[in-house]
Amino acid sequence: MLWFVLFLFIVALIYINTEKPKNFPPGPRWVPLGSILLQVLNKKSINKSLTEATAEMSKNFGPVLGLKVGKDPIIIIYGPHIIKEFSTSDDFIGRPIGLYYNLRTWGKRLGILLTDEEVWQEQKRFIVKHLRKFGYGSNNMTFILQEEIKYLSDSLEEAISNSGYIICDIRNFFNVGILNTLWKLISGKRYGYEDRYMVELQNILTKLFKTIHMTGAPFSHFPFLKYISPEMSGYKCYIDAHISVWNFLRNELQCHKRILNLNTDPTNLMDTYLAQLNSIENGTSFTEAQLLAICMDMFMAGSETTNNTLKFCFQHLILNQDIQRKAQLEIDDVLRGRLPTLEDRLKMPYMESIVSESLRMFGGRAITVPHRALKDTKIAGFNVPKNTVIAANLHGCMMGPDSGFKNPECFVPERFLGKDKLSIPDNFIPFGLGKRRCMGESLARANIFLFTAALLQNYNFFMVPEHPPGMGVADGVTPGPFDFKTKIMKRY
Ligand code: HEM
Repeated sequence: MLWFVLFLFIVALIYINTEKPKNFPPGPRWVPLGSILLQVLNKKSINKSLTEATAEMSKNFGPVLGLKVGKDPIIIIYGPHIIKEFSTSDDFIGRPIGLYYNLRTWGKRLGILLTDEEVWQEQKRFIVKHLRKFGYGSNNMTFILQEEIKYLSDSLEEAISNSGYIICDIRNFFNVGILNTLWKLISGKRYGYEDRYMVELQNILTKLFKTIHMTGAPFSHFPFLKYISPEMSGYKCYIDAHISVWNFLRNELQCHKRILNLNTDPTNLMDTYLAQLNSIENGTSFTEAQLLAICMDMFMAGSETTNNTLKFCFQHLILNQDIQRKAQLEIDDVLRGRLPTLEDRLKMPYMESIVSESLRMFGGRAITVPHRALKDTKIAGFNVPKNTVIAANLHGCMMGPDSGFKNPECFVPERFLGKDKLSIPDNFIPFGLGKRRCMGESLARANIFLFTAALLQNYNFFMVPEHPPGMGVADGVTPGPFDFKTKIMKRY
């Protein structure tokens, strides 16, 4: 019986909906299973990430690529020229609708990352305004980050004290520290490095990020797969990981509600939001579920992206000892033994260029969060029907043939150094562009700069020959290097 139902589904998939809309962007022929197979085979056979696979297709079909993945038409844009048209048009600032996205937030459209129109505007405005109040983008952020860096250094000191060095697996090296800097701004709290719950949660998130992709998972393109094969289609992992995150956030929220004092000024985002919920000026889109969804968005958008950028950074610092030494010369010269602050960035162009090159290594392998056409519209003269999902493959802007970056796979911080200051080309856009641009840019840049500078100030990082960094890219929601180990030794 099951086989018969499966057979009917496959027949239906082959015959339904293979007709392209008029003047739809060019791409492979629309055969539902064929379309996805083409990508999967391409990816697997030559071991390419989705970003690389679609970049390759864009070479054949042009900068606006029309695909059909399972039941969903998807447009991928590629290259510095087309990205401006895409990012500056209000027609494309929607976010996709559907099971895959709504499952994250209890079947409703909630949060900032994957909502649009009035709810998104109201919530994003509120969060940006209040994050600034708690030091986001200002000097207070230096203190929060420095505190976290001290915890990381103390744990390294302790581990190194016996043998003079330590071998570390890069996989979880930055996880808790980065999450804490985010979490401190959101909830005013940090977690210990050994906190069992936090480590477990991180492992679940890492697995989730590796199993799915921003543009979907097998179960979202072929929804029947979640019944036939919940494990292989990614459905089980997706649900389990979200349940863990929900439980974690609900516990936090209960703690905040228990001790909330509406007569004192809130000191973190969660309390501010709760105060807003209690106020008479309460807007219609403000709810407790919305608060949980926003925390989840920031948690997910902010931790893995920053971690992976730092991992790319240290991968290349280990492989290029000369870059490490050059950075240390600048660090010693400017800091003279004290901890780095965000103000030092102006005096440390080489360190800043390392931050930019690390962001290019990450961004050049990433596809933006998917957008949605809010109405029937056009891009580069092609028709884009309302509700079509459209995303930018940032490889084109930061690693592609028209990007202007020579030898794009090589880690060369100097490419960002102008005469006296940094020189950043317009198409360097690791945080996206336009109204959907990343909300966490200041925090991400601050974390990458301060963590890297403070670590290089005190330690040398070396390759472990048995576990060297590989050169490929591990695909997932966000790109990252394959796991490797590093030998860390004190400099003095
Ligand atoms: C290296 C670190 C990071 C990189 C490279 C990065 C990159 C991006 C990109 C490319 C987008 C999508 C732009 C688009 O859809 O066109 C985005 C969106 C977003 N990011 Fe980040 N991000 C980073 C860190 C963070 C952090 C630390 C936070 C949290 C504070 C954060 C919060 C968000 C949010 C909430 C959005 C959605 C904005 C919206 O839809 O309006 N990101 N990010």
